[in-house]
Amino acid sequence: MGFNDILLMDDPGKAELVRMLSAENEDKQLLFDRAARVKEEQVSRKVYFRGLIEFSNICSKNCYYCGIRKGNTKTARYNLSDDEILHAARYAHEKRYGSVVLQAGELRSPAFTRRIEKLCRGIKELSGGELGITLSLGEQDQDTYQRWFESGAHRYLLRIETSNRELYRKIHPPDEYHDFDTRNRCLRELQDIGYQSGTGVMIGLPYQTIERLADDLIFMKEIDVDMVGMGPYIEHHDTPLYRFRHELLPAGARFQLALKMIAALRILMKDINIAAATALQAIDPLGREKGIRAGANVIMPNVTPGLYRNDYALYENKPCTDEDPDDCLDCLDARVQLADGEIGYGEWGDSKHYMKRIQGQNKLQ
Ligand code: 5AD
Ligand code: SF4
Ligand code: FES
Repeated sequence: MGFNDILLMDDPGKAELVRMLSAENEDKQLLFDRAARVKEEQVSRKVYFRGLIEFSNICSKNCYYCGIRKGNTKTARYNLSDDEILHAARYAHEKRYGSVVLQAGELRSPAFTRRIEKLCRGIKELSGGELGITLSLGEQDQDTYQRWFESGAHRYLLRIETSNRELYRKIHPPDEYHDFDTRNRCLRELQDIGYQSGTGVMIGLPYQTIERLADDLIFMKEIDVDMVGMGPYIEHHDTPLYRFRHELLPAGARFQLALKMIAALRILMKDINIAAATALQAIDPLGREKGIRAGANVIMPNVTPGLYRNDYALYENKPCTDEDPDDCLDCLDARVQLADGEIGYGEWGDSKHYMKRIQGQNKLQ
């Protein structure tokens, strides 16, 4: 089958996805063009902003790839006050971002559960219910997820990191706190509760093959997620995975592979929300625009107060660590226009996939 026919298939399988991820030169351009077309037809050219608040880098986990892992004693730890978080949310509301993402290292405790509940209610209150809330706070028990949902959070991001059990095992410590099955169970629980659920993977991990990446895309389709955020893996020198840096694809190739993953996913799951991950920009200064052109429709501008940004270093070369929220807004506004997008200011920008899923469920009831 010709490459063009593959791109037009309604439901490409693994072999076709592998071909998309291997595309080079003209084929690669065809892939990006097709993804842009699908995006425009299915979810429009609109790009939604989510104000990202990275409110604490204190984490109880030890993922081998991550710069803020518990075992990294070189990172200065911070934890924003509730007032600072609400202030950042107010800023996002004033700038008509539509919604905010609360992200932090993973902590599990009754006090943490209560804190997030209070913050969700506070954000709803200060915005008169207008700001949507996405949480990205890792694995929690079902009751906690439920309570946060009832406090106003309606989207949750939990990356699977890789859908391959063996690779997952290689990039995490072998203990019950880093368990592949738990991660999957959490994803299911989030969906059952009614969150719009997102997942994602890192692209270009050591020992990750194109076939495994194609499996990742199929995994996303099978669990039927509403949103995906995925970007290149970027080595961090204070992490255990750093010693495998010689096994990696060159950064430029990892970046291209990430763009191809976005495009292939847009073709596979036409109406979901796909974020142009910040990590894209750690490799290429125009990374996020290129992500938009390849099929993404969400960007998460950082609205964390400038003072703390340097310390939320999951990976090296993280962009915007010296900027303030205003710098990022002006910058991204211009960038999105350069990428032929228009910004959906003041809109939640819920995933169309989610809307259809919910309507379908209501019909069945
Ligand atoms: N490179 C790229 N992404 C990373 N993340 C953590 N460490 C890295 C890294 N070194 C991503 C993980 C996590 C998200 C919050 O950040 O996918 O889920
Ligand atoms: Fe903690 Fe998330 Fe980093 Fe793992 S990836 S160490 S859970 S912040
Ligand atoms: Fe932060 Fe450009 S997006 S400075």
